[in-house]
Amino acid sequence: MQNIKIILTGSNGLLGQKLVSLFVTNHFDVFAFSRGKNRNLITNNYSYFNVNITNFNKVSTLIKKIKPHFIINAAAMTNVDACELRHRECDEINVNAVKNLVQVCKEINAHLLHISTDFIFDGTKNNYKENDCTNPVNYYGLSKLKSEKLIQKSTIDYTILRTILVYGVVANTTKGNIVSWVKNSLEAKKQIKVVTDQYRMPTLSDDLAQACLLAIQKRAIGIFHISSNELLNIYEIALQIATTFNLDKNLILPIRTEQLNQTATRPPKTGFNIDKAVHELGFKSASFKERLSVYKSQVK
Ligand SMILES: NC(=O)c1ccc[n+]([C@@H]2O[C@H](COP(=O)([O-])OP(=O)(O)OC[C@H]3O[C@@H](n4cnc5c(N)ncnc54)[C@H](OP(=O)(O)O)[C@@H]3O)[C@@H](O)[C@H]2O)c1
Repeated sequence: MQNIKIILTGSNGLLGQKLVSLFVTNHFDVFAFSRGKNRNLITNNYSYFNVNITNFNKVSTLIKKIKPHFIINAAAMTNVDACELRHRECDEINVNAVKNLVQVCKEINAHLLHISTDFIFDGTKNNYKENDCTNPVNYYGLSKLKSEKLIQKSTIDYTILRTILVYGVVANTTKGNIVSWVKNSLEAKKQIKVVTDQYRMPTLSDDLAQACLLAIQKRAIGIFHISSNELLNIYEIALQIATTFNLDKNLILPIRTEQLNQTATRPPKTGFNIDKAVHELGFKSASFKERLSVYKSQVK
């Protein structure tokens, strides 16, 4: 897609780094926005901007100068417990910054692809479709739902991709994910307590990035659910990670959510129905086990 300009916010993150590689490889004109130093390993054929997404004037001015055809917003405050404790900061990043992006997209007629979450659901139903009733049980989920609603209410072209428990191999990150946490703990012979009563469909960050590319190439409008195709509880997820990396399963202790004392409430069962993404975007679904082998092949 030569001469197609795209801004990728949150480009230092778990998803953001995969987006930078994928869109550069697919010959987009990439402008990566994140705060601080560029943490991507690839350094050529795109521009990096150190910009705080909550610096609304700076962000708007920069975007209007670049005049992108598309913006993918992968920047967010993603620590669910921190969001529960710091509502104002969470609102600034997860809601007000999105409002700002919507406003600029309207002015320059750009298409906004926004990443959202399974946490907009209360997790009592499972097999959630795109138009199912939302009911977040924590502040992070509420903030992401607010951002979805303001995008939907706008007149801009938009895609919202909701996803679940993202994991992947990224460079220079201090932030863990479920796979790196279980793998690193077991390698260090550390016992870990893992819940048996929270069910998820974990998503490889490469698959989510691919779904973004498909949605942009098709200029898809609306909401799509993106995840693996198998519902597992977190304990089962940890066991599969131990098997894949040949680590000691006895170090994984099954517990119930109430024993964890987490700051923010978690929805119990948030599996997606991903039929819409498969049929309309051509998204290729896979099991967690299949995707773990891809993760393993990328670990150095
Ligand atoms: N991870 C999951 O399990 C999961 C599940 C469902 C949905 N999602 C959604 O998927 C999207 C991508 O998440 P992710 O897992 O890639 O998260 P991530 O690794 O935390 O990446 C988010 C990126 O946004 C950047 N960022 C945060 N606040 C910023 C600010 N004020 N200005 C500029 N950049 C800022 C972060 O910068 P720093 O690196 O400096 O912190 C980070 O690089 C998010 O919308 C998230 O809500 C994630």
